[in-house]
Amino acid sequence: MDEQHWIFGYGSLIYKVDFPYLDREVALLRGWSRRFWQGSHDHRGTPESPGRVVTLIRDPDALCRGVAYLVDESVFAHLDHREKNGYERHRTRLLLEHREETVTGTFYIAAENNPAFLGEGSDRELAQHIAKSHGPSGSNAEYLLSLAAALRDLGEHDEHIVALERELIQLQES
Ligand code: SIN
Repeated sequence: MDEQHWIFGYGSLIYKVDFPYLDREVALLRGWSRRFWQGSHDHRGTPESPGRVVTLIRDPDALCRGVAYLVDESVFAHLDHREKNGYERHRTRLLLEHREETVTGTFYIAAENNPAFLGEGSDRELAQHIAKSHGPSGSNAEYLLSLAAALRDLGEHDEHIVALERELIQLQES
C-alpha cells in the first residue's frame, strides 16, 4: 500500500483539484504570505510572455490559510509535473483547523532564486500583467478570480488577493 501524505495547497491547488485524495481539510501555515510574484511559463502564460501566479514569501508573523489534502504517495508524480515551473517541495508543520490537529505536510514553493520568479510590483501593475496574460491552462485573470472566490469560500480575507481582484475587475470594466 502507498504511504499517505498531507499536501498543503495555497493557490490553484485549492480550486483545481485534478488528483485523487482521501481527505480534505482547511489548514493554516505559519510564517508565509501568498504573493503573485512567480512567473508562469506553462499554465497561465508562455515562455515569451509569462503570466503571474502565487508563491509563498517568508513573513514571520503571517498565517496563510489554504487547503490540506491527504493523498497517496503516487500523487506526487502528477503534482511535481504540474508544479514544475520553478516550484520545489518543502516539508512543514500544518494546523488542520477544524480538527485542531497539527500534522507534517508538504507544500510547493517557488523560491526567489528560481528562473521564473518575477517579484513584486504595485497592485495596479500586477493586475495589468494578469489581465493580459494567457497560457495553456487558460487566462491568468481566471486563475486570480478563481483563487479569490475559493478563498472567500474558505472564509479567508487575504488583503493581497482582494486588492488584486479589485484592480482586475476595474480594468475589465473600464
Ligand atoms: C499551490 O496551489 O499550492 C501552488 C501554486 C499553484 O499551483 O497555484
